[in-house]
Amino acid sequence: MLIAVVSAKGSPGVSVSALAWTLTWSRPVILVECDPRGGDFVVGYAHSQAGQGRDLLAVHMATQRGAAMSTALRDQVLQLGTDRWLLAGVPEPQQAERLDWTRLGRTLSTLEIDVIADCGAVSAISAPRQVWSAADLVLLATRSTASAVRAAQLAIPRLRSDLNELGMGSDRLGVALIDAGHPYSKAEIAAALSPKGADEVPIVTELPLDVRVAGYLSSGVKVIGNKIFDGSKFASAARRSGLEILTRGVKLRESTDEVNAFGAAKAPYPANGVRSGGMS
Ligand SMILES: Nc1ncnc2c1ncn2[C@@H]1O[C@H](COP(=O)(O)OP(=O)(O)O)[C@@H](O)[C@H]1O
Ligand SMILES: [Mg+2]
Repeated sequence: MLIAVVSAKGSPGVSVSALAWTLTWSRPVILVECDPRGGDFVVGYAHSQAGQGRDLLAVHMATQRGAAMSTALRDQVLQLGTDRWLLAGVPEPQQAERLDWTRLGRTLSTLEIDVIADCGAVSAISAPRQVWSAADLVLLATRSTASAVRAAQLAIPRLRSDLNELGMGSDRLGVALIDAGHPYSKAEIAAALSPKGADEVPIVTELPLDVRVAGYLSSGVKVIGNKIFDGSKFASAARRSGLEILTRGVKLRESTDEVNAFGAAKAPYPANGVRSGGMS
């Protein structure tokens, strides 16, 4: 299952949310930092593991030398905990131009482990379009202010057309709403993002505002005022939210499987030309 998380404008909390879901995900998972503007986690939450040169650029170089991408990915991840890993992003933004996002998207969507891809801003230079297009579910992260909702409205047509042209269809798009009610409510935002007559972009999940825990997830430093994540209310909210995301992803997957199975069931002849009842 590949879950891609993107933002429309500003910094609504894609990286913090993706990390919070990763740390509480109910199954083994890899967080892959695809933000082309450069990796944040190795200078933040995972700073104690920095300096090993294990990142997306190293994956790229290994594949240039002929390695299978799935093997290169496995070799380059950093461990975040039991059954959860991080693949850090490129150290510098210019390096993102060299990456083969198409191959990465294809590989991530076929791994046997769940992947949460932090894809950064939709309009970034060298944005990983092919990664979000390959996803089972794309979550557009947004806050609840007027400018955030306006930016989300503008990003939706672009994401929908990417999913229709390159991916599994625009029903794969959903919203992760951060800090609902400040000032606009979930219902108001849902109405603004799915006006009457337009296809619905559902609000799949929500996360609350928690400046102190988010500060810790951003920096990885327990400075005064920051609260650690484990055991926090924010961690419980992330766990619940992760289950909502997984449920939506599984439902979308099942709908694709059904369509594929329908094709097989309607095949005019049994495989290999052998008619049912066996060979006589
Ligand atoms: N749920 C949240 N509650 C409070 N602050 C948050 C939350 N999510 C993110 N932040 C803060 O917002 C800022 C941007 O977060 P980040 O995840 O880096 O955004 P993005 O990846 O979208 O650019 C950081 O200072 C982070 O601590
Ligand atoms: Mg980020």
